[in-house]
Amino acid sequence: MVLDSRRRNIVKILVIGGGGREHAIVWKLAQSASVEKIWCAPGNVGIAKDAECVPLDVKDVKAAADLAAKLGADLTVVGPEMPLVLGIADEFERRGLKLLGPAAKAAQLEGSKIFSKEFMQRHEIPTAGVYGVYVEALEAYTALDSVDWPLVVKADGLCAGKGVLVTSSADEATEFVERVMVNGEFGEAGSHVLFEEGLAGEELSYIILTDGKNFIRLAPARDHKRAFDNDEGPNTGGMGVYSIDDILPAALEKTIIETIVRPTLEGLHADGMPYRGFLYFGLMLTDEGPKVLEYNCRLGDPETEAVLLRADFDLAKACMQAATGDLEGFEAKWFPGAGVCVVIASKGYPGDPQTGVEIHGLEDAAKVPGAVVFHAGTRRSGATYYTNGGRVLVVSAMGEDLASARRAAYDAASKIEIEGAHYRTDIGGKAAKHFGD
Ligand code: AMP
Ligand code: GLY
Repeated sequence: MVLDSRRRNIVKILVIGGGGREHAIVWKLAQSASVEKIWCAPGNVGIAKDAECVPLDVKDVKAAADLAAKLGADLTVVGPEMPLVLGIADEFERRGLKLLGPAAKAAQLEGSKIFSKEFMQRHEIPTAGVYGVYVEALEAYTALDSVDWPLVVKADGLCAGKGVLVTSSADEATEFVERVMVNGEFGEAGSHVLFEEGLAGEELSYIILTDGKNFIRLAPARDHKRAFDNDEGPNTGGMGVYSIDDILPAALEKTIIETIVRPTLEGLHADGMPYRGFLYFGLMLTDEGPKVLEYNCRLGDPETEAVLLRADFDLAKACMQAATGDLEGFEAKWFPGAGVCVVIASKGYPGDPQTGVEIHGLEDAAKVPGAVVFHAGTRRSGATYYTNGGRVLVVSAMGEDLASARRAAYDAASKIEIEGAHYRTDIGGKAAKHFGD
């Protein structure tokens, strides 16, 4: 890091990842006066407009450290969970390279649902009750006779948001257990399965950036996990998000901080797992108060694509200060109004997505005032863009209220043509009615 003539810290940042979340991170970092250079590894063809993309297998944490050292990055910011769970932070620490993200041990909060459940129980953090943990499918089938419904079945490890089933049907639960434990659909991630109590309520994504002691919180957001309108269809990695302040009244936030955030940070400290980075609390707002459904050791995707549009502060500075344990007093301001994002997914997603389909209308979509199109799973050949994954594009927009943000996001999404692709038409729809704008 060097100081320029105005004594402003100028940094070079490497972002790890190559999806819509990383595109949004890069997009926001690129607006920062304190950033001199951004690389993204591996990035994607959309990100390439805002950052220099460098090839990388994100599972190769040694190669990531080699890359950061070779590039001379002052800070590396990690988008996805996989490299964190695989120990990228430990590798960087060992080599004296600065990185924002938790060590592998703490990343187990996301990497193992059993680990995180035990952590919450140990530190008395409100969460759904557990019926049992199973290593044999037969044990799990038998346990189905003595649970209450709806039941939640969770594969222990990382499954890209697809390892959870909420069901009131014993047949469906049996079939899911078979897919996970017998057919090994998620590999090792499905070797252990957890049954837990189904909670009812609205969900809330509450995300903080912490240096281990101090934290700032991101604008509150609500994801839409089911594939289709009206919350129908299977769970996905997330189909769209809205962010408005109305979903987080002050009294609720106080409860979340007192009963969940503080006990989590203190628990991490007590367990010898100091945590620097983004920490995502997936909450269910139940009649008994907020309860944790899951922790993620990173920013949400697609929460980031809606929330960062509302960020009115220097993200690079916040990341650097968190990575150096210096977040005290940092003021994160948020634009009032709303951020909305809509995920355009390939035919077949969240199952086997059809890829290699031409994408039309990107330029028209980007012209819609207030809208930004983030690339998630795309590739380019010459001037033509093609789909290259399940979640293809994330169309985001900001507005002075939820209705105008939704209008802009859906206006932009409607300009994009991809044969067979689908997106939900009701992101933030219920809330727009409820909050009356
Ligand atoms: P998870 O990966 O644990 O967050 O689960 C993914 C999604 O499954 C959550 O966002 C919820 O929509 C749903 N879910 C998870 N756990 C529960 C629960 N205990 N009760 C009701 N829904 C749940
Ligand atoms: N949108 C949910 C997640 O990032 O896990």
